[in-house]
Amino acid sequence: IASGLFVLLGYLLGSIPTGFLMGKLLKGIDIREYGSGSTGATNVLRTVGKGAAIAVLVIDLLKGAAAPGMVKGFYAIAPAGILPDTWQPWLVTLTALVAIIGHSKSVWLKFSGGKSAASGLGVLLVMNPLIALGTLGIFALVLAISRIVSLGSICSAIAANGLMLFLHQPPPYCVFAALAGLYVVLRHRSNIQRILAGVEPTIGQKLQEKP
Ligand code: G3P
Repeated sequence: IASGLFVLLGYLLGSIPTGFLMGKLLKGIDIREYGSGSTGATNVLRTVGKGAAIAVLVIDLLKGAAAPGMVKGFYAIAPAGILPDTWQPWLVTLTALVAIIGHSKSVWLKFSGGKSAASGLGVLLVMNPLIALGTLGIFALVLAISRIVSLGSICSAIAANGLMLFLHQPPPYCVFAALAGLYVVLRHRSNIQRILAGVEPTIGQKLQEKP
């Protein structure tokens, strides 16, 4: 029951529609009808503004961190034996995965949402801060060179796998990086098409076509 509760809570945490709420509260718009149609910080930046985008980025990151964080917290304070110790890394991984899925398939938004890059980074922060830092570094480097946020997200989602292996992380965490990385790349399908067509907007630039 406890593990099922974590999965449910993780999904609900991920589901919190931060970007959507920001669009509604600050501009009275449904952000899914603008720009890339994503509820993530990048689309908030191009449709709502800088302050709102930073807030969404931070909250989405925290959402991602809170899901596996609550499992770790539970193990830290619960009396030994309530859940087997060996389950911990797998429960962390499962809760993290449902949280990032909740972010892009929110129960409050008819299963739409963002692309799970920020929430994924939040998860990495709890799994291994060094890997989160490395992943952020790759993102920043690609963004600095290309000025394209989605390309940074895609490259860093793939690179996280390399960092997991390089730093000999536990298998459940490597499984997270593989599945979440694949998920994040798949969520960026329309971005990949635009990148290949040479029409993906650079950071902050408006996106003309309707999602
Ligand atoms: O994390 C989302 C970002 O990589 C791309 O966002 O709105 O340009 O599709 P967007």
